[in-house]
Amino acid sequence: MPEKDDKDAKDFHVGVPMRCEPFFLRGSNSLDWGLKNRLAKIFNPESGRTVMLAIDHGYFQGPTTGLERVDVNIVPLLRFSDTLMCTRGILRSTIPPTYGKGIVLRMSGGPSVLKELSNEQLACDIEDALRLNVAAMAVQVFIGGEHETQSVHNMTRLVDVGQRYGIATLGVTAVGREMVRDAKYMRLACRICAELGASYVKTYYVPEGFETVTASCPVPIVIAGGKKLEELEALKMAYDAIQAGAAGVDMGRNIFQSEAPLAMIQAVRKVVHEGERPDRAFDYYLTLRNQKKSA
Ligand code: 5RP
Repeated sequence: MPEKDDKDAKDFHVGVPMRCEPFFLRGSNSLDWGLKNRLAKIFNPESGRTVMLAIDHGYFQGPTTGLERVDVNIVPLLRFSDTLMCTRGILRSTIPPTYGKGIVLRMSGGPSVLKELSNEQLACDIEDALRLNVAAMAVQVFIGGEHETQSVHNMTRLVDVGQRYGIATLGVTAVGREMVRDAKYMRLACRICAELGASYVKTYYVPEGFETVTASCPVPIVIAGGKKLEELEALKMAYDAIQAGAAGVDMGRNIFQSEAPLAMIQAVRKVVHEGERPDRAFDYYLTLRNQKKSA
């Protein structure tokens, strides 16, 4: 039996307006509580940004360089990521269930690098995503690609089930080999993903006019790292994207193919969360890398 509460000195703060803080993420204020809670496991509420570690490449590329052994090469990096993007196969087999941050689950697949990549279908059921307690579901969208409509429908189907259960959807704008990577194309692809319900969008950074891509997309944008660059170049790209309005990075090869992945992910964090300038972040990378070498 609960104790009787007969204290007279209660303070109801009569006259104090109920606190109601806007949600910190662009375009996300009207979402339901569960969706916001999951997005807060991807984006750091203090900086409003994220360092997503992307290791899902195996779903069409097999054991690509740096991902030959996820247990050896990736697990030690996890504590420096805000969230992990991976397939359910790697998640179940290799990622410790004690990883307490958001999981962004690769939900589409089908063709390998040997075939037409835009011919993807949904490759995982929402029930499994729920069972795996994921924060978001990622799906490739091939605007202008051979199977454009099919890939858009893959995304809209995920948006529908995601809304039902409060799971976010990440629209991944995939650029075909023959397509021009410019701001005009990225504006088109990102805006289509957002209009059709993506909670946030991943795209590639373009040096000319990237601020128009972020400005015209009503939900957060994160950039993929793309092909491996020199570390300083990758840090510059991340810095420029953040300055142009990106809410973070979804970076894979530029971290796990770096000469010193642990140092690189920490340097990327400096740029993303602290707005550190690339040259200073690079010095930080070198210091960490050299410490490791001399240890
Ligand atoms: C693969 C992906 C990757 O997650 C994405 O491209 C990020 O990785 P990287 O930084 O290596 O480009 O979506 O299809």
